[in-house]
Amino acid sequence: MLDMLQYKDLDSLYAANLECRACGLRQGCKQVVISRGNPAGRVMLVGEGPGSQEDEQGKPFVGPAGQLLDKILAAAELPPEDVYITNVVKCRPPGNRLPKADETRSCLPWLERQIELIAPRLIVCLGALAGQTLISPDLRITRDRGTWSKYRGIDITATFHPAALLRDPNLKRPVWEDFKVIRDFYKRMLREE
Ligand code: URA
Repeated sequence: MLDMLQYKDLDSLYAANLECRACGLRQGCKQVVISRGNPAGRVMLVGEGPGSQEDEQGKPFVGPAGQLLDKILAAAELPPEDVYITNVVKCRPPGNRLPKADETRSCLPWLERQIELIAPRLIVCLGALAGQTLISPDLRITRDRGTWSKYRGIDITATFHPAALLRDPNLKRPVWEDFKVIRDFYKRMLREE
């Protein structure tokens, strides 16, 4: 059992995460992909796992889904300097398959410690895997998207993954509805600070 509390800051956490071999995914990918954005950001977005472009570039959400995500964030007036982006698993699953339950479980301590050290004000889960990991194992994204709860005292919600939007344009409207609520939450938070 890894003692995550030994990592007192993000630098030491990232350095250890880069060396992780806790599951088989590291063997099949080029590099460990941890985050992009501002670690001091109020808004944390959590996706599923790196795809091929992310594995190449070492940053999450830099491929087509990431480009769409950046457009959504701009439309929702969430400034890039206030956003931090990561994934449930930090190593690319082969062929972009979903991470398996044991892989997600092995990687979870990294994400949990990341959230503790970032201490965001709001977490947005992108897709079912992130929602099931951080909100409830029973979460169903179609049913539960747009609902709000708490993760260790932090406001948290889930919406469809941007890659799902690329496959099914009908999901654009519900995602935009969810991001309008996120935008309003964000603006209210700034006003109340
Ligand atoms: N999909 C994800 O869930 N994360 C990425 O980083 C890229 C695509």
